[in-house]
Amino acid sequence: MTVTSQTDLEELRAIGRIVAQVLAAMGAAIEPGMTTRELDDMGRKMLEREGARSAPELAYRFPGATCISVNEEIAHGIPGERVIRAGDLVNIDVSAEKNGYFGDTGASFPVPPVKTHIDRLCRDGKRAMWEGIRAVRPGGRLNAIGEKIERFASKGGYSLIRNLASHGVGASLHEEPEGIATWADPSDRRIIREGLVFTIEPFLSMGGEMAAEAGDGWTLLADPVAPTVQYEHSLVATKNGPVILTLP
Ligand code: CO
Ligand code: CO
Repeated sequence: MTVTSQTDLEELRAIGRIVAQVLAAMGAAIEPGMTTRELDDMGRKMLEREGARSAPELAYRFPGATCISVNEEIAHGIPGERVIRAGDLVNIDVSAEKNGYFGDTGASFPVPPVKTHIDRLCRDGKRAMWEGIRAVRPGGRLNAIGEKIERFASKGGYSLIRNLASHGVGASLHEEPEGIATWADPSDRRIIREGLVFTIEPFLSMGGEMAAEAGDGWTLLADPVAPTVQYEHSLVATKNGPVILTLP
C-alpha cells in the first residue's frame, strides 16, 4: 500500500510494533528441548493479547500462527512436534493484521553453542538487510535494493536464495509491488514511490541458490542444502529516508 494519511502511518506502526515484539519475545524464549509448537503457542497468545490476527492463517490458512523454520528449512516451516536442539538455527517469521493493517518481520536465531561460521552468517544476514534498507529512496529504482544486497553478498562469498523475494505489504500480507528482488535484476525498471510500504528480507546463504518445496505443501528447504538466514523489516519509503515499521 501507499501511505496517504497519518492514520495509515500510525496503524502500520502499531501492527509493526506488535509483530516486532512477538518476534523478539519468541526469539528470547528459544530453549533446547522445546518444540516449535510451544514456541508458536507463545506467539499466538501474544498476538491475541494485542488484538492482532496471524496473517498467514488469515491470508493462506497456514497451519500455525507464525512460521518457524529449523536448519535445512528456510521459510514457511510449520510449527509442530520438532524439538529444538542445541546448535540449531531457528528462523521465526511473524506477520499479523490489526484494524485492516498488516506488518511482517522475521529473523534467524542461532541456538548456543553457535559455530563461528553461523555467527558470521547471522551478523552478515542482518547487514545484508540493512544494505538494502539504506538503498531505499523515493524516485529511485526498486532494484537498487537488490543491487546493493547482491554486491554485499558476493563480497562475503555468500549466495542469495533467488526465488524468495520481498514484497509490498500493509493492506494485505503480500501485495504490489510483488517480487522485489534482493539480488541484481537489470530488467526491473520499477520506481519506489513516496509512501510505498514494503518488506526487505534477503535470504543470505552459504551456498543455497533456491528454495525447494519439502512436500508438506508449505515448508521450503535450501537447495542445495546450506546454512541460510533471513532478516526482515517492513518499512515506508519517505523523503526523509526509510521509516522502519517493525521495531519493538
Ligand atoms: Co515475513
Ligand atoms: Co515477508
